[in-house]
Amino acid sequence: MHYLLFRLRAEAPPWAASLEGMSANIGVVGLAVMGSNLARNLASREGNTVAVYNRSREKTDQLVADHPEAGFVPAFSYEEFAASLSKPRTAIIMVKAGRGTDAVIDELVKVFEPGDIIVDGGNAYFPDTIRREKAVRETGINFVGAGISGGEEGALLGPSIMPGGSDESWVTLGPILKSIAAVAEGEPCVTHVGHNGAGHFVKMVHNGIEYADMQLTAEAYDLIRRGTGKTPAEIADIFAEWNTGELESYLIEITAEVLRQVDASTGKPLVDVILDQAGAKGTGAWTVQTALSLGVPVSGIAEATFARSLSSHPEQRAVAAALPGPDTEFAVDDADAFIADVAQALFASKIIAYSQGFDEIRAGAAEYDWTIDLGAVSKIWRAGCIIRAQFLNRIADAYAEHPELPVLAAAPYFADALTRGQAAWRRVVVAAAQAGIPSPAFSSSLAYYDGIRADRLPAALVQGQRDFFGAHTYKRIDKEGTFHTLWSGDRTEVEAEDTH
Ligand code: 6PG
Repeated sequence: MHYLLFRLRAEAPPWAASLEGMSANIGVVGLAVMGSNLARNLASREGNTVAVYNRSREKTDQLVADHPEAGFVPAFSYEEFAASLSKPRTAIIMVKAGRGTDAVIDELVKVFEPGDIIVDGGNAYFPDTIRREKAVRETGINFVGAGISGGEEGALLGPSIMPGGSDESWVTLGPILKSIAAVAEGEPCVTHVGHNGAGHFVKMVHNGIEYADMQLTAEAYDLIRRGTGKTPAEIADIFAEWNTGELESYLIEITAEVLRQVDASTGKPLVDVILDQAGAKGTGAWTVQTALSLGVPVSGIAEATFARSLSSHPEQRAVAAALPGPDTEFAVDDADAFIADVAQALFASKIIAYSQGFDEIRAGAAEYDWTIDLGAVSKIWRAGCIIRAQFLNRIADAYAEHPELPVLAAAPYFADALTRGQAAWRRVVVAAAQAGIPSPAFSSSLAYYDGIRADRLPAALVQGQRDFFGAHTYKRIDKEGTFHTLWSGDRTEVEAEDTH
């Protein structure tokens, strides 16, 4: 990045005069599907005039020609783009996260002025956003990393938006983003999440939760199909039914649609002709890597991420296919009762996934010195984004009642659901283990639940082992201080320095 090479400009650049009068209040750089849909969304809202720029001119021409109603102000150079924007200039970068983002920032910094705002709307890794914000700030320009969720349709009709950046930029950006965000119960799904990388951090965790939610849903489908022999279309009906109750969510809704889809060329359910190797672009892995660094157990998200990795090693799966499974066939006696159990297990595991995700956001905020309102985050996920669901209102309620809640799953509403669901959850995990059906997200969520609620954990023994081989010391339950047993001596206990 070369931001620091550019000096702050005191007077208007020479090309500014030629474009005077073509004032757009917002610009979009990068006109692939997400960018052009976001530009159209912006243009469709009262009061917005949108400047558009793309590296290759064809995309710009095409967008302007296809959407005359949008009144776009096309630009064919960064200079033109800057000149077409009113001040403070505000531009949203919608390019593939990575080096391309740095390249666009370099160009915008050359033509923007102090007080202007550059927004990165891609799925950037939050440490990159922290780095970029710091570098751009040196020029006097604001840099905002904004997570945008909702896919192509969300970008066009109303996404959930998670902006970070400075308070100053939020003054200009807030009303613009509110104008395009999804609306949940009358409230726009956007909030100023926190400074510098906070927005992309929260988007990252959103995606981690998305991975867990998807894996849990997939495990529920697999168990029902293998346990009851129901067809994908029949299971679609079950998911559609679930979507009317406490499991209501976009992901459950689209799962029903995917399961109902029939492949035109074979006449088979589409799900049966799709290769069972799940891809990933990295946001789930970032969530897990970050959680490991922060010491936050996001086991549901981790298992979901690993499940995609496991699925995508056909060479290992081909060899391991020879390994034995249980002798007996898996068939449940009472299909309806089993399906009801799976629904409970799904809801319980989902509570754990969200609880873990919010735990990570809380830990990230503490580590990076962000003030993040967890209730506000859950509210902006109620519409527009991939994990949108009514259930998020209950998370907002829990944080409204107790902003410092240490474990979301222990809040009354969720504790009640877990109390109601835990027996079914255990039956499902046992059934899956006995049948040899992998249910890593169901079972790891249950293990987390039993771990976090345990009176006493075998961690005491781990401390003993650590002290034995490495003199890592331990604390006692009955007195203050740090201790070490002289394992290779007379095995008496001595007071020691705390080495953790
Ligand atoms: C969203 C999605 C979006 C994208 C994921 C998919 O919120 O709109 O999360 O960002 O669909 O990045 O990620 P994978 O390709 O890793 O599944």
